Amino acid sequence: MSHSTLAEIAKANFKPASPLVDRELNPHALIAKYAVRGKIPTMAEQLKDTLQSDPDALPFDKIIAANIGNPQQLDQKPITFYRQVLALIEYPDLLKNENVTQIFPHDAIDRANEIMENLVSVGAYSHSKGVLYFRKTVARYIEDRDDHPANPEDIYLTAGASSAVNYLLSLLSNGPETGFLIPIPQYPLYTASLALNNATVLPYYLNEEEKWSVSASEIQKVIAKAKEDGVKPRSIVLINPGNPTGSILTAEGIAEIINVAAEHGLVIIADEVYQENVYEGEFVSVKKVLRDLQKIDSVKYADVQLASLHSTSKGMIGECGQRGGYMELIGFQESVLAQILKLASISLCPPVIGQALVSLMVNPPHESHPSHGPFRSEKLGIFNALKERSHKLYLAFNKMKGVSCQEPAGAMYCFPQLTLSEKAKTAAAQAGMAPDEFYCAQLLENTGICTVPGSGFGQVPGTWHLRTTFLAPGTEWIDDWAKFHEKFMNKYEN
Ligand SMILES: Cc1ncc(COP(=O)(O)O)c(C=O)c1O
Repeated sequence: MSHSTLAEIAKANFKPASPLVDRELNPHALIAKYAVRGKIPTMAEQLKDTLQSDPDALPFDKIIAANIGNPQQLDQKPITFYRQVLALIEYPDLLKNENVTQIFPHDAIDRANEIMENLVSVGAYSHSKGVLYFRKTVARYIEDRDDHPANPEDIYLTAGASSAVNYLLSLLSNGPETGFLIPIPQYPLYTASLALNNATVLPYYLNEEEKWSVSASEIQKVIAKAKEDGVKPRSIVLINPGNPTGSILTAEGIAEIINVAAEHGLVIIADEVYQENVYEGEFVSVKKVLRDLQKIDSVKYADVQLASLHSTSKGMIGECGQRGGYMELIGFQESVLAQILKLASISLCPPVIGQALVSLMVNPPHESHPSHGPFRSEKLGIFNALKERSHKLYLAFNKMKGVSCQEPAGAMYCFPQLTLSEKAKTAAAQAGMAPDEFYCAQLLENTGICTVPGSGFGQVPGTWHLRTTFLAPGTEWIDDWAKFHEKFMNKYEN
């Protein structure tokens, strides 16, 4: 059979259809919001382009991306040992090169060899839960951290914590009658994913005056109200240390929430990606508290279902782009686990380099090995800089007129509250913006500092906040912020 030519086919007689418009798309996708990369960050991208074409066009010379917890975008250096091992497993021929010992310390070489003995190639799909060897290192880390056993079969390596959240929320959502208790303010991944999955957000407000604490009685009230409205609470999310609040839960605080979860059969999603970012107090995992409670009462807590999440994106490792993470699932029925595994297998496997990085994060150089000293000082340098900047920013906010800020005990953010004048609110309305968005837009246009309005995370109605990271190097930008603030407040004084 002879085929027509393209020229002949193009002569066919039909009226071409128009391309899709957004209103024809999945309505659940249309309502999902993610302010961390929303309107203000988009304005910042435009200003960055302006600066690139004319460095003198604006009253500042660079954009400070304080909108997102992305440390290496803000010049944080990757930790050398991790990258050395990754370089060797990416290009294993180096391991056979006679000069390799002149470039890499022996513990990095040994670790890379050990990984390669357990892996065919980082370029091959792995098991959908991730490579068993890596999962074993995660289990050992959890055991050391919590002083309770951990099973590598309960560990699912994931493409960052985000993909764990996606799996869990999509599987647990069973229509708008399914409710998810989400802390407010929250990291907007949760509300965005629930919008996508057409499930219901049950907000529980954190108490700002008491360092953004969680109240079990407040959660009980939300549950009672949801039931009255015909929504069945299915799961509760805890973000500890908190994003955007920087607060840290105590073991007792966690235990009270576990009680609520046990009473109502809620799946606990413990987002613990900031577990290394602790500047004050102590991080205790939900898994540890649950196991401790199960020791006290093995019947009452037997059926608590917990998914704990961790990531290579935060801590001092800050490797957001490598997409490493894991979730540990305990207390779930085999039939549910089979569905989670099925979801993971639809995505084939998490990035294998990200998996390797998870194993390095949880199993750093041993004390007696050559990389330990440099590793320790790199990590300490990052930690001290974060702690110092968090404190400086907190002090600066509390000195600013009309601003109050809780001191962040952990994570990477401050979430100050802004008391704005009626004049500022009117100016915001005239600009078609909410007051917090207006403040963030003005801050960006005058200083280049890009932040996210509180509305992106949720806030008590009528209050206004913003979130800034304390990742940007140096502290001059904090001084610039204080100067801007004074001018802003003077300009909009009632
Ligand atoms: C609380 C929280 N959970 C999850 C994530 C997602 O992290 P990942 O890069 O591991 O997907 C973030 C990122 O900022 C976060 O702040």
